[in-house]
Amino acid sequence: MTAINAVTDLSQDGEVAVLTLNSPPVNALSLTVREGLFEGFKQALASSAKAVVVICDGRTFIAGADVSNLADMLKDPSIEDIQKLMDGADRPVVAAIHGTALGGGLEIALCAHFRVAVPSARLGLPEVNLGLLPGAGGTQRLPRVLGPQKALEMITSGKPIRAAEALELGLVDELVAEDGLRAGALSFVRKALAGGRPLVRLRDRDDKVAPFRGKPELFETFRQATAKNFRGQVAPDWIVECVEAAVEKPFDEGLALEKQRFFQAAMSPQSAARRYYFFAERSAQKIPDVPAETAAREVKSVGVIGAGTMGGGIAMNFANIGVPVTIIEMKPEALEHGLSVIRGNYERSRGARPEETEKRMSLLKGSLDMADLKDCDLVIEAVFENLEVKKQVFQKLDQACKPGAILASNTSYLNLNEIAAATGRPQDVIGLHFFSPAQVMPLLEIVRGDKTSPEALATAVDLAKRIRKTIVISRVGPGFIANRVAMPRLTEINSFLLEGLPPARVDKVLYEFGFPMGPFAMLDLVGLDVIADPPGHQTIRGRMAEAGRRGQKGGGGFYDYDESRNPRPSPAADKIIEDFRIASGAAIKEVTDEEILERSLYLEVNEGAKVLEEGIAMRASDIDVALINGYGWPVDRGGPMYYADQIGLDKVVAKLKEFELKYGPQYKPAPRLERLAAEGKKLTGKS
Ligand code: NAI
Repeated sequence: MTAINAVTDLSQDGEVAVLTLNSPPVNALSLTVREGLFEGFKQALASSAKAVVVICDGRTFIAGADVSNLADMLKDPSIEDIQKLMDGADRPVVAAIHGTALGGGLEIALCAHFRVAVPSARLGLPEVNLGLLPGAGGTQRLPRVLGPQKALEMITSGKPIRAAEALELGLVDELVAEDGLRAGALSFVRKALAGGRPLVRLRDRDDKVAPFRGKPELFETFRQATAKNFRGQVAPDWIVECVEAAVEKPFDEGLALEKQRFFQAAMSPQSAARRYYFFAERSAQKIPDVPAETAAREVKSVGVIGAGTMGGGIAMNFANIGVPVTIIEMKPEALEHGLSVIRGNYERSRGARPEETEKRMSLLKGSLDMADLKDCDLVIEAVFENLEVKKQVFQKLDQACKPGAILASNTSYLNLNEIAAATGRPQDVIGLHFFSPAQVMPLLEIVRGDKTSPEALATAVDLAKRIRKTIVISRVGPGFIANRVAMPRLTEINSFLLEGLPPARVDKVLYEFGFPMGPFAMLDLVGLDVIADPPGHQTIRGRMAEAGRRGQKGGGGFYDYDESRNPRPSPAADKIIEDFRIASGAAIKEVTDEEILERSLYLEVNEGAKVLEEGIAMRASDIDVALINGYGWPVDRGGPMYYADQIGLDKVVAKLKEFELKYGPQYKPAPRLERLAAEGKKLTGKS
């Protein structure tokens, strides 16, 4: 065996050269890995070997580019240099795939003549998630294996496919035994040599694309069908353009177009925001004073208290991963109702198979007796939002649960420390704040009480990964992170109405910024009766609820709705708004769209700065993760903290001061924001 460099070995197995990469954790295409591959292929092809197998040690094949070091990404040898060697090979080259072949990893594999994989392998081009497109021939080679339709789906969704599907589609030539990749690859290549199997160079293949040449309808239809999904994003459109070029143009022309679009995408603010978010999501899982090796407790069974909106959704998360759940209610009817709602949710979910529903329902056991929680490793409370009620529940839990069980509350606003103090084991008490609907929304805020132990935190983080939630860690404070930061904007919409702005105009401005819906449409969806008006302070939303306008679920809200829940302007709602405005003596104001946007967003920025100052959030980027996953903040904008940094904190502060004079003290800049602006610094750290 010859060491090519620190991460690459070249060995000979009979007539076959085996090039092995070992660059933990994921064999990403760092400069060293590229050097190893380039040099390794050169030597293998210069040797007397009759074939070359490229394979990886560790848990995966090459899982993509190494995005952590942009400067290194631009150094030679490039991925393309390696691909040229592979394309020029005069003997079989086989990529042996396990784990994930993603991005640049799959693009390398696409330059091999053949691909073999273990059944658990997955293959994909996820660049679109980072606002990019594949930049090493992926948009040109993949359509030549899969045909344009499937290639479009795979590249614009960014979703990897499983090995079995890859085999069916011809992306993989053979599946080999799960624990015998190297042997399987060697035996495949020997068969190929013995049978004189012709070498397939994907750049030369035409059979899958030729039938679609001169037929732009396919691409037009795809563009139309995905327009709403990809609203405002630049990369998907360029992907379609490049795949179309793969069909219409010679390989090298398509490749040149891909390169041009790749660099344009890489320079775009969207991609910068998405790359920022990619790292933000990962760093949100790190808790500086809880070492990564802190042992998480095993959670094999879960209890949920309350079978209401949240309790039911929370229980579904665990049934979905095969963990049995005991659900406690006060009355049999409530329990029965809760379970039937869960069943309905399963039956209505896309692609639901009856046996799957039954399997999941069989994991859910209802009970009226907390003593039935005695064996649970974790209990999540989701009863009414009332401190006294919650304290009583936790007192009972303290008695019912075994030592070491984690006791969690799903409270949205209440003081977790007071809840924990109702037990004799505050170290085991934690907040697990799900968002509604809990079985759908990606965010989980893990709330850390003053006495919550590192083990309880580590267990919660581990569990969140199992149920595939995106997490942020919050300290105790009213509304924690997401609700707290979003609230001022949702409160300010009352002022918008008093200034005479129609709900549809405000909604349009925020929709066009990239939110899935504007604030009024969102309140209609959530229900206007969900939040009570603060004492002594009436809002138009509260008045609507009183008048029986509870939103989409009944009576309409700021809009009227037809049977399919399509909104249309509502004269009745407008009258409530107008009456309220006149009674309060508020005067109509001229407000520009720009001002609507700035006022909405800067209120969040300001609240975020307060949350940071108070130590409720550990990092500005955690706030962005919370708002993107909990409140639909467009990821292409990076979240409120990142967005403010891009605008410039001095500009944000100047605007807030202007708004403070014009519209009131709710716009007073947070001290932290003013300080950072004066120092020329950023919220997200880098100055
Ligand atoms: P809900 O009113 O739909 O459900 C509460 C359920 O708990 C009811 O079925 C009630 O019968 C049951 N319950 C009350 N006391 C109980 C007890 N002592 N033992 C057993 N069951 C009891 O309320 P929802 O919306 O599910 O909220 C529950 C909790 O989740 C609250 O703390 C709320 O703040 C929090 N939350 C709510 C969100 C939402 O959007 N609805 C979002 C995130 C958190």
